[in-house]
Amino acid sequence: NPSEYGDIYGRQFKALRISLTQSCNFSCVYCVPDGMTLKRLPNELSTEEFTEILTALHRQLRLEKIRITGGEPLLYKYFDRFVEILGGFGIPDLSLTSNGTRIAEKAELLYKNGFRRINLSMDSLKPDVFRSMSRGGDSRKTMHGLETCLSVGFKLKVNMVPMRTLNRDEIITMLDFCLSRGIELRYIELMRMGHVGNIFEQEYVSKDYILGEIGRVYNYRRLHADADSTAELYEIPGAGRFGIIANETSPFCKGCNRLRLTSDGRLYGCISAVKNFDAREILGLPEADADKVLRRLLAGAMQTKQTYGFIGSPYK
Ligand code: GTP
Ligand code: 5AD
Ligand code: SF4
Repeated sequence: NPSEYGDIYGRQFKALRISLTQSCNFSCVYCVPDGMTLKRLPNELSTEEFTEILTALHRQLRLEKIRITGGEPLLYKYFDRFVEILGGFGIPDLSLTSNGTRIAEKAELLYKNGFRRINLSMDSLKPDVFRSMSRGGDSRKTMHGLETCLSVGFKLKVNMVPMRTLNRDEIITMLDFCLSRGIELRYIELMRMGHVGNIFEQEYVSKDYILGEIGRVYNYRRLHADADSTAELYEIPGAGRFGIIANETSPFCKGCNRLRLTSDGRLYGCISAVKNFDAREILGLPEADADKVLRRLLAGAMQTKQTYGFIGSPYK
């Protein structure tokens, strides 16, 4: 009975985010400390191991959404095979988050296997700013990926992290670009994770600032978003939609139904949890035993969910 995993706030795990590999060909300034690159973990799961864990998770949770993330998920060695396997699960909402550099080659494959939504990270329309924010990325590749995804028929979102000294002046140009292509732009408030603590005060751009800038140019109104949505949703009548992921200003933990699985098989109940649970424990077990172990792991993961959104933000 999946409902047994609900916590006292009624939250259940219904959406799974799988970090396919930790490896990335970018080193974005808000993600990676200067001088570092993201490498694959030494013990990343094989497709067979992913499949076994996913099968057990789906049996327990009746997952409604799976999103593939990374690192950059397209760097996973067995990407094609993984996408085909995932397509066979019959999960209604399959999606992927990518930096777009290699998505053009895989867009058809993803669509054929049931994926309909792709979120691309793109912080600037200026090649030099794009390069410095991603520490070396070529915006033409991401742009080519974006256009290919649109032509294949994907519903696209673009994620932009506005930073004061880097791309704050592109709040409107990015919006116009996305509106003109039917893309939902989502502004993400810089999250104070890891090394970002050092640059946070200097670089943070708030939801209020973003809305202020947009308000000078457009009339917008807030729309109702699903309770499990990361983003607050806005509409510019006649032009389209945009979102704001206000991690600092208004965390959305209250409706969060996410579970995360890392490339080395660890389960996290929350983006900010440190405590994690090793899903490898179920590998090779008979079904009944695997289910029993997994129930224990999931109950533990559920206890690590934060409550910021409804008992007050820790950031304020
Ligand atoms: P949709 O399915 O389109 O709503 O995607 P998404 O917003 O869940 O996924 P995406 O990978 O595009 O993530 C965008 C941003 O959402 C991330 O950069 C994070 O800032 C934020 N985010 C994703 N998952 C979580 C979460 O579980 N908790 C919090 N606080 N933020 C999250
Ligand atoms: N703050 C805000 N957003 C971040 N992302 C990665 N690190 C951070 C951070 N510190 C975003 C990327 C990508 C999304 C999945 O996560 O821009 O679009
Ligand atoms: Fe991090 Fe994503 Fe940038 Fe790669 S593309 S460095 S994973 S934010």
